[in-house]
Formats: sequence, C-alpha cells, structure tokens
Amino acid sequence: MDFKGRDVVSIRDFSKKEIEYILDCSERMIPFAKGDRTSDCLQSKILSTLFFEPSTRTFLSFSSAMQRLGGSVLGFAEMSASSVAKGETLADTIKMAECYSDIIVLRHNREGAARMAAEMSERPVLNAGDGAGQHPTQTMLDLMTIKLEKKKIEGTHVALVGDLKYGRTVHSLSYALALFGAKLTFVSPPNLGMPPEVLVDLQEMNADLTQTHFLEEAVGQVDVLYMTRIQKERFPDPAEYSKVAGLYKVDLNLLAKGKSSLIVMHPLPRVTEISPEVDMTKHAVYFRQAFYGVPLRMALLALVSGIPMGEFK
Ligand code: CP
Repeated sequence: MDFKGRDVVSIRDFSKKEIEYILDCSERMIPFAKGDRTSDCLQSKILSTLFFEPSTRTFLSFSSAMQRLGGSVLGFAEMSASSVAKGETLADTIKMAECYSDIIVLRHNREGAARMAAEMSERPVLNAGDGAGQHPTQTMLDLMTIKLEKKKIEGTHVALVGDLKYGRTVHSLSYALALFGAKLTFVSPPNLGMPPEVLVDLQEMNADLTQTHFLEEAVGQVDVLYMTRIQKERFPDPAEYSKVAGLYKVDLNLLAKGKSSLIVMHPLPRVTEISPEVDMTKHAVYFRQAFYGVPLRMALLALVSGIPMGEFK
C-alpha cells in the first residue's frame, strides 16, 4: 500500500483496509516509540507543527514521533507566536511551512481549515483537529487502543459519552467504528447530541446504533466507555455550558454497575468526567491510549514519507 505524499484530513478518506494497514504498522512502531529500538529513517525530514489551538498530547506526540525516527520539528504552539497575530492569512502561513518543511501538521479552530491547507499544499498535511470537524489521527489511535485492549473492534460495544455535538474526536470515531462493525451507543444531553448529518451518514452505513441521555442506563451494556469533555470553549452561550457541565461522571460507583472487563477511554484532557480514583483501576486505559498516539503518528509520518515498512519488522 502506498501512502507517500498522502494527506490525512478526514478518517472518511481512508478505506477499512488502509486503516487496518496503518494500525498494523503502528503496532510495529511500539518498541521504537518506547525507545527500546531505534531508527533514523526520517533523518533528513522536517515536520512543521502549526497549532492555532492549545494542545498537549497531539503536539507533543507528533514531535516525539518525528524525533524518535530521527527527523526534526519546527513550528509554533499558539497563534500569538506566529505572524497570524499580525494579520497573516492561514493560506500564506501554509505556503511558508511548505517552503521550510516536508510534512505539515495543522490544528485550527475553523472546521475545513485542514482540507483547505491540504488542497493548496504540495506537502502532506495531517489534520490535528479542525474546530468541531475531524481529528483523524486521534481516531486511528483510538482504534489501535480498542484493538490492543479488547483484541477486536468488530462487535465491540462502545458508548460515546458527553459532547457529541461539538466533539470532533467522536465525529471521526463514530464513522470509523461503524466501518469496523462495532456496536454504538451515544450518550449525551439533548442539546449536545450527534449532528443530524452524522446520524444520516451512520444510518446509510447500517450502523448498529442506539441513543440515550442516561449514562447509568448504558454502562452495564457496553465494553468500552469513551468519555469526552464538555468543551466550554465551543459554546456560543456560557449559560448553555453551565446547564450541562459535570453532567456525566465515571467514578467507582458507576464502574460497579459495568462489566468487569469494561475499559474507560478518553481522548483527554479531562476535567471532571473521570474521577481520579478511577486511574488506579484495571478499567482505566486513557493514559495508555495517549501513549499509542506516538507509535500511531510514527507510522503515519513514515508512511506519508514513503519509508518502506520492512525496516520495522
Ligand atoms: N486528544 C487531544 O487532541 O489532546 P490535545 O488537545 O491535548 O492535543
């Protein structure tokens, strides 16, 4: 499979076979991501990280992934550190990144920004989250986590919980889970449900899908609880945010109602939706999930650079 020069804008741009191949390559990268094995296959390559919105995991894991493979990283972690603060357009910023680097990672608050960047750039553009749109590399690492922790994705029952309206991670992930034949339950307050256009697409994919407003109803049925933060920054009206903040919380009482094999995932950052007491339980997978971001992004960086995967046997 040839991914050389390919953009990663939406999970829907990838077939199931392509995603399976990427996951397979990502698993091979685990010892390299841990530093147990080394490779300098990206030695002459430079990655631009253009982050117009805050990030810890995506920013650091892309940087770690590039450096683990011998490449270099340049960029900025906030808009005020770039000439966008002086009025430069995103289009001109992308042209500059194209001059100075081989691969561009972009996080932007505007839905569609990554698509626009990919269309105008000769270099591969990897979408690190575009507003309430998509977060495809997060979805790939989420699939990797489910595959490694539950041994299969098909037939696995996953509850996506919280802000399904503005949450880009759950938009991408619901498509991917439907593609892989997982069973879906959506848990959200009435005003933060999955966008109607996503529901229509999922219906067309014949997704096995139920919806509820009550986490306690869902917890006993599912294999994976995928929690999300209610994103204060995406609410046009702060009063609407206060009505739903803190509505869903995973704690030891809730876990007692779930299967003993239940795993709890979260793209992070969390605020109040997972109590710290859960961290020490066998159910907590979210920190391992964050680690899988490194091998997953190593595989993507190598693939879009045209590196043969035989090196990583
Ligand atoms: N999961 C995720 O995108 O985290 P950051 O916002 O910290 O990158």
